[in-house]
Amino acid sequence: MPRTSNRSSPGPRRAKAARPRARHSSGAPVALITGATRGLGRLVALALVRRGYRVVTCSTSATPPGLGELLHRRVDVGDPSAVDSFVRSVVAKVGRLDALVNNAGFANPPTPLPRTSEEIVRRSFATNVLGPYAFLRRLLPLMLRQPHGGVVINVASRAALVPVPGLAAYSASKAALLSLTLAAAKERDDERVAYFAVCPGGMDTGMRSALFGASDARRQLDPSHVAEVVVELASSRSIAGRRVRSGSAILITRDAGTRVLDWPEDERGYRGFLPP
Ligand SMILES: NC(=O)c1ccc[n+]([C@@H]2O[C@H](COP(=O)([O-])OP(=O)(O)OC[C@H]3O[C@@H](n4cnc5c(N)ncnc54)[C@H](OP(=O)(O)O)[C@@H]3O)[C@@H](O)[C@H]2O)c1
Repeated sequence: MPRTSNRSSPGPRRAKAARPRARHSSGAPVALITGATRGLGRLVALALVRRGYRVVTCSTSATPPGLGELLHRRVDVGDPSAVDSFVRSVVAKVGRLDALVNNAGFANPPTPLPRTSEEIVRRSFATNVLGPYAFLRRLLPLMLRQPHGGVVINVASRAALVPVPGLAAYSASKAALLSLTLAAAKERDDERVAYFAVCPGGMDTGMRSALFGASDARRQLDPSHVAEVVVELASSRSIAGRRVRSGSAILITRDAGTRVLDWPEDERGYRGFLPP
């Protein structure tokens, strides 16, 4: 039976957009963050750099996030050949990967399902499922070769657990990402590589603003709080000092804070752990 194993409350709103003060050396850990030019991904990359990580980033724009990253490439995560070539460069240039944060995501403009085009559904799954899968499959061998293993964090969504009307393609793709995370953890339950699915509710980022407007976005979660959770998981596999089991989903909402949903052992799944 799954357990609610942790709670914490959201942090203060709005992180300062200060330049990072990196403390890394050549032996410093390395994190790859997809979609790090804006929104949550940028905050995660910034916080990791502050913790002494060297970061590798990609997005569909060629402009790097400007965080002193080791490498930034223009990559559409839904394009397997672009992911291939990027991963080859990462392995050749860096040769080490401590954390993979599959953050880049696509959400369709809210539309009832019968009017949602096949192209939108394909793009949702290409970006939100096949992208993370491609990075995971290509980078797992590197993590498994390292004595200390690694951590994979897939940024899903609360919509993976509670589908959103008008966002059926998005919700379904995030549910698939959640399931992929759990299945990967169960396949190799030795914790050498730990897998987590972070499931935020609405966040105050460009994505939310584009979907529901700026005033709605301002009422949502502060993404820097979600970034802190991601970074703590990446660096210590824990939240608020408490170790989190590989395969867990971490649900973060503005009203209920952070809750760790242990993996489901039977068909009752994660039920009972959703916000009221
Ligand atoms: N915002 C929310 O309310 C919310 C809630 C729950 C979960 N999430 C999830 O959280 C993650 C981050 O969302 P966000 O709100 O920070 O989004 P955002 O503000 O739109 O930023 C998305 C980032 O991903 C990059 N990106 C988008 N598509 C890409 C692609 N195909 N290949 C590579 N990079 C790509 C973007 O840069 P370029 O445009 O330069 O490519 C940008 O850096 C997503 O997975 C999203 O689904 C968001």
